[in-house]
Amino acid sequence: MSDLPAGLPMAVPAAGLPEAVRIHEVGARDGLQNEKTTVPTEVKAEFVHRLAAAGLGTIEATSFVHPKWVPQLADAAELMPLLADLTARDPALRLPVLVPNERGLDRALELGVTEVAVFGSATESFARANLNRTVDESLAMFAPVVARAKAAGARVRGYLSMCFGDPWEGPVPVAQVAAAARRLYELGCDELSLGDTIGVATPGHVTALLDELTGSPAGGTGTGTTGSPTNTVPVDRLAVHFHDTYGQALSNTLAALQKGVTVVDASAGGLGGCPYAKSATGNLATEDLVWMLHGLGIRTGVDLDRLSATSVWMAEHLGRPSPSRTVRALTHQEQ
Ligand code: HMG
Ligand code: MG
Repeated sequence: MSDLPAGLPMAVPAAGLPEAVRIHEVGARDGLQNEKTTVPTEVKAEFVHRLAAAGLGTIEATSFVHPKWVPQLADAAELMPLLADLTARDPALRLPVLVPNERGLDRALELGVTEVAVFGSATESFARANLNRTVDESLAMFAPVVARAKAAGARVRGYLSMCFGDPWEGPVPVAQVAAAARRLYELGCDELSLGDTIGVATPGHVTALLDELTGSPAGGTGTGTTGSPTNTVPVDRLAVHFHDTYGQALSNTLAALQKGVTVVDASAGGLGGCPYAKSATGNLATEDLVWMLHGLGIRTGVDLDRLSATSVWMAEHLGRPSPSRTVRALTHQEQ
C-alpha cells in the first residue's frame, strides 16, 4: 500500500539496544475496551486475524471481567472460539486475556485459554476505581488466580497500573511502585508489565523506575536507589506499557530498551484508553513503534504495510482516522 522506496526506514543500529523486541499487541483489548459503540464480535475476530497475519506473535484478545464494568468486551466467550483456527494453525501464537478474579479465570480456562493477565495498581485510588478493592484486597484476589492458572499450565502476566502518575493522587514515588511491582511479581507472575496508564511518564522517570526495579542504576552499586534490593524484578521479566497522552510513549520506550527491556506493549493504530482512569488516551501505536524499531535494526517480525492496512480498516469501522503518525504517513492521510 505504501509507495515508499523499499528499504525505508533505513536500518541504522544504535549501541546498547536489543537485537529483537517482542511486541505485546493490545489493540483488541486495551484498544477497544473504551469504545462507546459496540464492535461486533466478528469484526473483533477479523481484527485479531489481521494482526496475526501482519506478523504479531502476541495478541491480547479480550477480557473476562464483569460485563457491566466493560460492556465492550462482554462477548469474550463468543470471541475466543472464533480465534481457535489461529492457534491450531500456529501453536506458537499467544492470545492472552485479562482475568481479574477466579470467576474470570474459570470462564477463560473453560475455553482453553493458555495465557492470562491479572491487573493490579501501584495506587489505592486506581485499585478502588478499577477493581473495587484496596491494593491488599486486589493482591489477595489475584493470588489464587495466579496459582490456579500456573497449576493449569497457563502463562501469567501481571500488569501494574499508575506506575508514573495517578489522576487522583498525582506523582507516584518510584519506591512505592517498585514495592507494588515486587508484591505482584512474587505471586508467581511470569512477566510484569509496567503501565503508564495516563501517559504522564518522561524518559528520565522511566530510567529511574527501571533502575529502582532492577537494582542496577547506571554506574551504581546494584542495590537500587533506595538501597532496597528486595524490591527488584529481573529485567528479562519486565515489559513496558505506555499510553501516548503527551506524545512521550516512543521516547519512553527507547529509555526502557536502553535499560534492557525487550517486551513492549502497543496498540495497532494507537487505539486505546482505560474506562476507569480519567485522562487515559490511546496506547503507543504499534506502527510508530515498529517504524522506530526497524529504523534501529531491531527485529519485530511485523509487516508494517499489512499492519497499517489493518489499522485503516479498523479506523473505518470505528468511524474516525487512526491517530498514528506512521499509519497516516504510510496511507497518505492528511497529517
Ligand atoms: P465487584 O463488583 O466487586 O464484583 O467487581 P464481586 O466480586 O463483588 O462480584 C459481583 C458479581 O459479579 C457476582 O455476580 C460475580 O459472579 C460477578 P452475582 O453473584 O452478583 O450474580 N463477577 C463476574 N462475572 C463475570 N466475570 C467476572 C466476574 N467477577 C465477578 N470476571 C471486578 C470486581 C474485579 C469483577 C470488577 O471490578 C471488574 O470487572 N473490573 C474490571 C475493570 C477493567 O476491566 N478495567 C480495564 C482493564 S485494566 C487497564 O486497562 C489497565 C492496563 O491496560 C494497564 C495500564 O494501562 O496501566 C491493563
Ligand atoms: Mg493500558
